[in-house]
Amino acid sequence: MAIGVFDSGVGGLSVHHKLVERFPTADFVYLADQANSPYGGRPGEEIVALTRAGCERLFAEGCNLVVLACNTAAAVALRRLQQTWLPGYRKALGRPVNVIGIIVPTIEAATGLPWEHEAERRGDKVEKLDILGVFSTPATTSSRVYEIEIDKRRQDVAVFSEPCPELARMIEQGAGREELKRVIERHVAALAKRIGRAPDRAILGCTHYEIVADLFRAALPPGTPLIHQPQATADALTRYLERHPEFDPGHSGKRLFLTTGAPGAQNGLVETFWGGPLHFEKA
Ligand code: SIN
Repeated sequence: MAIGVFDSGVGGLSVHHKLVERFPTADFVYLADQANSPYGGRPGEEIVALTRAGCERLFAEGCNLVVLACNTAAAVALRRLQQTWLPGYRKALGRPVNVIGIIVPTIEAATGLPWEHEAERRGDKVEKLDILGVFSTPATTSSRVYEIEIDKRRQDVAVFSEPCPELARMIEQGAGREELKRVIERHVAALAKRIGRAPDRAILGCTHYEIVADLFRAALPPGTPLIHQPQATADALTRYLERHPEFDPGHSGKRLFLTTGAPGAQNGLVETFWGGPLHFEKA
C-alpha cells in the first residue's frame, strides 16, 4: 500500500516533501491535476468532481490513504466526499481507504493547540493571538472554512482572509521571484490595511504559497509567526497512522510522481524548492 498525495498542481509537493522526511521508508504516489490547475477560481461542483477523480486515480494506483494537499480541494470537497461518496466507494472496493485533509491540522497548529503547548514547555515566550491572517485562493476564502473551524476552537481570535487570485497560477507557471515578490507584498499590505495593523500570526492557506514562503516572511513584519502546513500535516498524519494501523503506508520507499498535464520536468521555481530535478509521469 502507499500514501497518496493529491494537489491541483505543484503546491502539494511542499507537503509531500515533509511527509517523505517524516516517513522515509513509506511508499508515496503524488498526483498533480495540472490539466485542471489551478482550482481556486473554479465552481464548487467542479472542484468536488475533480478531487474525487484524483482520489480514485490514487486508489487505483494502490494507495489506501489520500492526503488532500490542496486547500481548495480540502475546503470545498473533503467533507462532501467523506459523507456522500467514500462510504459506498469503500464498500465497493472491499478494502479500507480514506481521504484526509490539511486544514484542521493547520488550524490546530495556528490556534496554538500542540504548537503553543510545546513552546510553553520549552519556556519560549508565546505572543498573544488576537488576529490571524489567512492567505488563500478565492474558492478557499469564500468557503470560509478557516473562519468556521477557528471559531469552533477559539472565539477570541478574529480571522481576516486575503484572497490571492493570481498567485497559485503564477507559481504553477514558474513566474519570476521579483514578480512574485511584488504580488505578495501587495496582498500583505492589503490585508494589513483591512485589519488596521499586521496580523499576529499568518497562515499560508494554499500549499502553492509554501513554495515561496520566504517571500511572505520577508513581506510580513519581522517575527510574525508563519504557520507551516507541511509540518502541521506531517504531525497530524503521524497521529492518524498511530490510531489507524490498518493504513499500512508501505515499506519500500517508492516515489511516483504523476500528472494529468504534460509529463516531464517541472518549472525552475519548483525544482529550486525541491532541491533538484523532478520528473512527472503521465497519470
Ligand atoms: C489551487 O489549485 O487554486 C491552489 C491549491 C490550493 O488551494 O492549495
